[in-house]
Formats: sequence, structure tokens, C-alpha cells
Amino acid sequence: MKQKIILFTITLMILGLGISEVTAISDAETQANDILNKNSTDSDILVIYFSRTGENYNVGNVEVGNTAMVASYIKEYLKADSFEVVPIDKYPDNYDECTKLASKEKDDNARPQIQNKIDNFDSYKTVFIGYPIWWGDLPMIMYTLMEDYDFTGKDVYIFNTHEGSGDAGTYSTVQSKLSKANVNTDGLALDGKTARSDDGKQKTIEWLKGLGL
Ligand SMILES: Cc1cc2nc3c(=O)[nH]c(=O)nc-3n(C[C@H](O)[C@H](O)[C@H](O)COP(=O)(O)O)c2cc1C
Repeated sequence: MKQKIILFTITLMILGLGISEVTAISDAETQANDILNKNSTDSDILVIYFSRTGENYNVGNVEVGNTAMVASYIKEYLKADSFEVVPIDKYPDNYDECTKLASKEKDDNARPQIQNKIDNFDSYKTVFIGYPIWWGDLPMIMYTLMEDYDFTGKDVYIFNTHEGSGDAGTYSTVQSKLSKANVNTDGLALDGKTARSDDGKQKTIEWLKGLGL
């Protein structure tokens, strides 16, 4: 019996490895990437997001992160521009390694550096900010972002993804960090699986309609 369990465990491990090796980009991810990679409008709406690829909680190995999926729905619906917050030091694909590093960054109140810059930030009147919840907070790189740009007078809307914490109180954090902006704290919080589904897309559109956008 014990041998059978060991054999079963080994088989699962091999299968698991196999799956992660052959993970291919899905149609939904390709569509999201196509949307996120194109900024050709004269829009005065910008969707800023941070999102991780790789091994993710509850949704397997992903090529497009959960928050990025939601960003693509907003961008498509509002014909907006988007900006992905890309860290200089990429976060580990391995989930456990990433959680350890993120925990240390939070303890250190770190400001991880961003690789890219927003062109013409002044030209945007409305800014969406999207992020996953990390350790009951925003990922520290979002603090870097909020401190790097002048949000004075902008209308700010917030969305996030999570695995149970909801917004974890981060909407008020954003509001107090961006005290010179008009921050709407009626944000959108979706769990990872919903964020990646048609239901998530519908919920996002309903949220935008509810905001009058
Ligand atoms: C470092 C780290 C810490 C996390 N901490 C939390 C948490 O405190 N509460 C929660 O609900 N989910 C937590 N999660 C889960 C993520 O918020 C969730 O998987 C999210 O959808 C990931 O978004 P992304 O794919 O856009 O990166 C954490 C994930 C990571 C990687």
C-alpha cells in the first residue's frame, strides 16, 4: 500500500512537471496580450497595472497574470491606453520563492525599481490602477509607482485581484497615498479564477458601467 502511494505521488510529480513544461499560451491570454500590447489611441484614460506570470495560486502556470487579464478588459471596453509596471528585477516564477521575496520587501518597506516609464503621463485625465494583493497589501512596487508620478487632479479608479483577501483595505491606502487625486474607492476586486473567466469580464464591464464610464 505504502509503495502504491509513493508510486502515485511520483507519477503525479512527473505529470505535474510535464504539464508545467508544455503549458502553452491560451486563446484568452493571446487576446489579452494583443489588447495590452497596442497603444494606438488618443485616449485620455490610462490603465496602469502590475501582474505576475509563472506559477500562480489556484490558476496554475500562466503566461498572462490575473490582474493583466482584468486590465485588458478595461482597456478594450474604454478604448484606453495601458502601462504595465515592469520591475527591473523580475519576480520569481516559482510561487513560494516569490512569496518569500515579497514578504521581505514588505518588512523592509522596500521600493523595488521600475524598468519602464509612462510617456506623457500629464495627458491622461483618468487613471486606473490595478495590482494583486500581496501579503494583505499592495505589492511594494506599486508604492514606487505612486511616488514616481504626480497624480494631482486625476480621477483614479482601482482594481485588484486576490485569493480571498478582497481589497485588503488597499483602496484607502491608495486614497491616502494619492491625496491630491480624486480617488474613487468603489473598486473592483476579483479572485484569480473569476478574473480569468468570461464572468470576470462581464463583472468588469458592469463595474465600469456602474461608475458611469
Ligand atoms: C507574493 C504573494 C503574496 C500574496 N498574498 C496574498 C494575500 O495576502 N491575500 C490574497 O488574497 N492573495 C494573496 N496572493 C494571491 C494573489 O493576490 C492572487 O493570486 C492574484 O490574483 C495574483 O495576481 P497576478 O496574477 O496579477 O499577479 C499572493 C500572491 C503572491 C504571489
